[in-house]
Amino acid sequence: MSSERKILITGGAGFIGSHVTRLFVRKYPDYHVFNLDKLTYAGNLENLRDVEDAPNYQFIRGDIVDAPFIDKIFQQHRFNGVIHLAAESHVDRSIVSPMDFISTNIIGTVNLLNAARSLWENQKSESRDHIFYHISTDEVFGSLGDEGYFTETTPYDPKSPYSASKASADHLVRAYSHTYGLPAVITNCSNNYGPFHFPEKLIPLAINNMKSMKPVPVYSKGENVRDWLYVEDHAAAIDLVFHKGAPGSNYNIGGFNEWKNIDLIMLLCRIMDEKLHRPAGTSEQLITYVKDRPGHDLRYAIDSSKISGELGWKPLVTFEEGLRRTVDWYLANEEWLMHVTSGEYLKYYQQQYHNR
Ligand code: NAD
Ligand code: DAU
Repeated sequence: MSSERKILITGGAGFIGSHVTRLFVRKYPDYHVFNLDKLTYAGNLENLRDVEDAPNYQFIRGDIVDAPFIDKIFQQHRFNGVIHLAAESHVDRSIVSPMDFISTNIIGTVNLLNAARSLWENQKSESRDHIFYHISTDEVFGSLGDEGYFTETTPYDPKSPYSASKASADHLVRAYSHTYGLPAVITNCSNNYGPFHFPEKLIPLAINNMKSMKPVPVYSKGENVRDWLYVEDHAAAIDLVFHKGAPGSNYNIGGFNEWKNIDLIMLLCRIMDEKLHRPAGTSEQLITYVKDRPGHDLRYAIDSSKISGELGWKPLVTFEEGLRRTVDWYLANEEWLMHVTSGEYLKYYQQQYHNR
């Protein structure tokens, strides 16, 4: 591996990206970590306050859909590793407005692949000098019935515009690896939760609403199943795959931690009542069954034995512990939540970067 590592993280101001960026900036002081983010509604530089002044960190505001800009920054900074997280990530938004998902998740990914390919193809590199790491989702595999798990060889069967756009991106990454020899690796992860999660997604939305005594919307009867993973466990897996994953391969990442939505919400209600010193049953009264998400996938469950067996990864945070940490974080970070819900956070970039 070359001694100077210049790593481009895309989407570093988002939920998972901010955890990955923080981990890399702190753990690898010799690496130069570039965070490229458009700062859509989901990008929040307040997520990275604690590392923004680190000497090995640099923020670049930009859109991965803008090909000339992407080419320019690759030529200028000569990245030797890419961890690509930038995406439109919310399934419900993809149903209402799919085009942003097509352009960011597909075109944006191809722009990054083209830029990496033209930067790296004439450079003689030793194994693992360069790596293009695409962060993907278990949703590309479609929906399971009551039994079974997604493995690395499960055929793709995406069902929502979001998952179809991520599946397209995965196929393109594989095609560039196969056709042009681009060193690339893909991971497909299950549902993450933890601090800095945007409160449009189930867990932070429910915490926020329970806190403010607002209705907690549960789609249909709450029977859908998701496999939840604490975000720091995902970030640790990303660190491992970036450094040790075999180029040309893919790994599934998940917590072996399936929950029906309604059971999860009931557990969260108990934790919230306890933390807020409210009578048991207070939060539960807020549960409101609402119209289902169109095409709602019934169940996701990941078999992560490949990454465990080959790379030694396993999740460290139990679900109850992770949920408690998450609730504690949201209750202790009212200002973050207030800024996100009011839109105030969008001004942070202006204040921190434009006035410098
Ligand atoms: P997020 O929505 O919180 O963050 C996405 C980030 O990408 C934001 O900072 C946003 O500003 C940035 N972005 C969006 N469009 C961009 C563009 N055109 N150019 C540059 N930046 C842009 O997402 P997340 O939940 O942190 O997910 C990160 C990645 O992980 C995504 O690729 C997602 O598909 C994948 N993933 C997420 C989960 C999960 O449970 N959240 C699970 C598996 C995989
Ligand atoms: O599986 C990985 C995926 O997990 C990621 O690729 C996505 O980026 C991420 O957003 C997440 O997708 P989901 O659709 O599973 O997450 P969400 O939090 O939106 O929903 C979780 C479950 O809760 C799902 O079954 C829908 C349901 N739900 C969601 C919301 C927002 C509700 O019942 N009520 C809600 O208000």
